[in-house]
Amino acid sequence: MKSETIPVITIDGPTASGKGTIAQRVAAALGWHVLDSGALYRLTALAVIRGEVDPADQAAAANLARSLDVVFDGGRIFLRSDDVTERIRDEAVGNLASRVAAYAPVREALLARQRAFRRAPGLVGDGRDMGTVIFPDAPLKIFLDADVAKRAERRHKQLKEKGFSAKLSDLLEDLRARDLRDRSRAHAPLVAAADAVIVDSSHTGIDDTVKIVLDHWSARVSG
Ligand code: DC
Repeated sequence: MKSETIPVITIDGPTASGKGTIAQRVAAALGWHVLDSGALYRLTALAVIRGEVDPADQAAAANLARSLDVVFDGGRIFLRSDDVTERIRDEAVGNLASRVAAYAPVREALLARQRAFRRAPGLVGDGRDMGTVIFPDAPLKIFLDADVAKRAERRHKQLKEKGFSAKLSDLLEDLRARDLRDRSRAHAPLVAAADAVIVDSSHTGIDDTVKIVLDHWSARVSG
């Protein structure tokens, strides 16, 4: 099967909009693969921290991104055979990820790696530029948004469940800063593709949001 004929559903949106969960659930319902593109930027950030590289050095960060020795295996993520699944979810790693994600050489270094996830029978790609840059020919593009206060609340609950402590007001401030950086950067900023369907999940639970996406896909397939 030629890569361009393999269907892709892109799910882009701001931090903590629930993209990750929705992407996993939609992929499971369709029996498709998932690309968690944010994990690649988080892994790059972690490699920068571990390599004691200057975070302002764009070329060095891009080299690390290009040579990431990463394995995605049944929901776990390994960097050089070290299980970093939880570690890359740290707020500090997320904040640095948002910083290195603004570097054009880093984005370029991760381009082919992301497109290689397009495998039969289909792919759900979760990120910020899935529909605009990585898979511009995707037959269904979703832009998943949610109110920033609601997202901070969800992230707070998630972190607490995982045993991390965090102040809601700090999270809100972090999310606002990260949104601003993701939306205003020069390269591949967070923006809905012109042909994306905007879904606001501020007042919709996970099950209903998954159903909305699957209904859009069914409509595309039958239409
Ligand atoms: O989705 P996430 O929070 O795991 O992503 C971490 C950071 O990576 C986020 O601040 C923005 C960046 N990112 C990006 O620039 N492009 C993507 N396709 C995915 C994530």
